[in-house]
Amino acid sequence: MSSYAIELLSSAHDRAGFSSGLDSVDRYFRETSRGHLEKGVSITRVLVDADAVPPKPVLGFFTLSGILVEAKPWPGAPKGLPKQAVPAVLLGRLAVATGHQGKGLGSMLVATARQLAQETITRTGGIGLVVDAAHEQAAEFYSQFGFKPVSPGSLRLFLPTKSLEGGPAIPTE
Ligand SMILES: CC(C)(COP(=O)(O)OP(=O)(O)OC[C@H]1O[C@@H](n2cnc3c(N)ncnc32)[C@H](O)[C@@H]1OP(=O)(O)O)[C@@H](O)C(=O)NCCC(=O)NCCS
Repeated sequence: MSSYAIELLSSAHDRAGFSSGLDSVDRYFRETSRGHLEKGVSITRVLVDADAVPPKPVLGFFTLSGILVEAKPWPGAPKGLPKQAVPAVLLGRLAVATGHQGKGLGSMLVATARQLAQETITRTGGIGLVVDAAHEQAAEFYSQFGFKPVSPGSLRLFLPTKSLEGGPAIPTE
């Protein structure tokens, strides 16, 4: 059985060779993710085989950043929030390489993102994890982990801090 590692995106990873089949997500990963990490805009982590050597094939990735949200009316948001925007963590993008989909890796990436969001929120505050699903099917994928649309039909989904624990996460450095 292969074992996996989650690593911060770096020049050791084969960005150009990654494809999830969803062009917008793949272009972000290939062309933008590294620059955003270097500038502090967001943090992208990649899933690789634990014994891979550079250029390491990327099996999947996800991107986290901080976000301010006006969440007062959102389902699951804490009661009595202030009217103005409050902090949360954003899971901006997540994808698994085409040859590796359907093997549970996406679920492991979501669990790892939840754990990292919880650790961040414990230190700096935040009402939960927000995800922008790229399409309706992706929203269905996230809904099985408890994420709920912030309003009917919205592709922005939310999981409150009290529900962040759960699922087998992969250790991160
Ligand atoms: C969506 C995606 C991340 C799922 O990753 P994955 O590794 O294939 O998912 P898993 O193997 O962990 O599947 C877990 C469960 O989600 C379901 N699932 C997988 N893809 C799904 C989809 N697109 N829509 C709805 N459910 C989905 C699986 O059937 C499985 O359910 P089960 O446990 O009852 O069998 C992956 O297919 C992908 O990268 N797609 C292209 C990029 C994309 O659409 N990203 C989302 C952007 S927000």
